[in-house]
Amino acid sequence: LCQYQGFWFQPLVGLEGIMWMQQHFISRPTDVYLISSPKSGTTWLKALLFSIMNRTRYDFSTHPLLTTSVHECVPFMDLDLFKTTPIADPEVLSSPRLFATHIPFTLLPDSIKNSSSPIFYISRNPKDVLVSLWQFMMKVKPKDLPPLSLEDAFEMFCEGISPCGSYWDHVLGYWKASLEFPSKILFLKYEDMKEEPLLNIKRVAEFVGRPFSLEEEENGSVQEILTLCSFEKMKNLEVNKNGFYRVRNTKNDVFFREGKVGDWENHLTNEMAKRLDEISRQKFQGSGLMF
Ligand code: A3P
Repeated sequence: LCQYQGFWFQPLVGLEGIMWMQQHFISRPTDVYLISSPKSGTTWLKALLFSIMNRTRYDFSTHPLLTTSVHECVPFMDLDLFKTTPIADPEVLSSPRLFATHIPFTLLPDSIKNSSSPIFYISRNPKDVLVSLWQFMMKVKPKDLPPLSLEDAFEMFCEGISPCGSYWDHVLGYWKASLEFPSKILFLKYEDMKEEPLLNIKRVAEFVGRPFSLEEEENGSVQEILTLCSFEKMKNLEVNKNGFYRVRNTKNDVFFREGKVGDWENHLTNEMAKRLDEISRQKFQGSGLMF
C-alpha cells in the first residue's frame, strides 16, 4: 500500500483509478453512488440497489443477478471504469447509472459532491471489517507472496494502514458528511441491515427516489428482492460459486464468506478486540457514531 492525501491505497488497483476519477470522471445528475470502506457490505448493497432500481425491467426468474456477477452489474468506478473495460465505458452507459467506489470523502471529485445524486454509504463494525479484510487478502494475494498473519494484519489495521484507510477516517468522513448533507448521503450500517432488512431496504428505495408502492409490499416484490440479494442465495448461485470476475481475475466466491455479524469472535483475541474498541472510542468520541 502507498499513502496518498492521508489515505492508503493499493497502487494499481486502487490509486490509479481514484486519480482517474478525480481527473476524468463526468458525473450526471441522474447518477447513483454506493460508497464504502472495503469489506463493509458493498456486494450486498450493490445487489439491493441494482434490484431496486431495475425492478420494473427484470423478471425475478430471469434476473441478471442470477447469472452475472453483481460486480459486473454494478462497476467499481475506481477499478473498472478507468480502464474502460468491457464492463463499462461510463459515457456509453445509459442513465440512471449506478456506480460503486471505495474513495474517501475528502478525495471525492467535486462534480459528485456538488451534484444532486444520492450517495449510499455502507459501514460496518471494525472488528468484522478487519477479519473479513484479512481473510479476503489471503485469498486474493499473489501466490508468490508469503501469507499475512492475523497479528500483522491487525497491527497494520490499528495503525490505519488498510486499503482506502484508515478505516476510521473513511467512516468518519462520510458520517460527518451525512450529518451535514442528510438529503444527499444515506449512512447505513451492515449490522442494522442484517437486523432489520425490510425497514432498511425501504429506506434505500425511498432515498433513491423509487419508494415501494403498497401493492409491491403486498404482492411480495419487496421480499423477492431481499431473498434474491440474501447472502445464502447469492453465495450459492453458480456464477458466484465458480465464476470469475474477469476484470480483476478473481473468483467471485471471494466476496462471499460468512456474511454474519460478530464473526470476529472466532478470530480475534480479547486483547485485540479491546484495542480495536479503544481506538474506536477515541476516534468516534463526540461524533455520535458507534458500532
Ligand atoms: P465476511 O467476510 O464477514 O463474510 P464487501 O462486499 O464490502 O467486500 O464485503 C464483504 C463482506 O460482506 C463479507 O463478509 C461477505 O461475506 C459479506 N457479504 C457478501 N454478500 C453479502 C450478502 N448478500 N448479504 C450479507 N453479507 C454479504
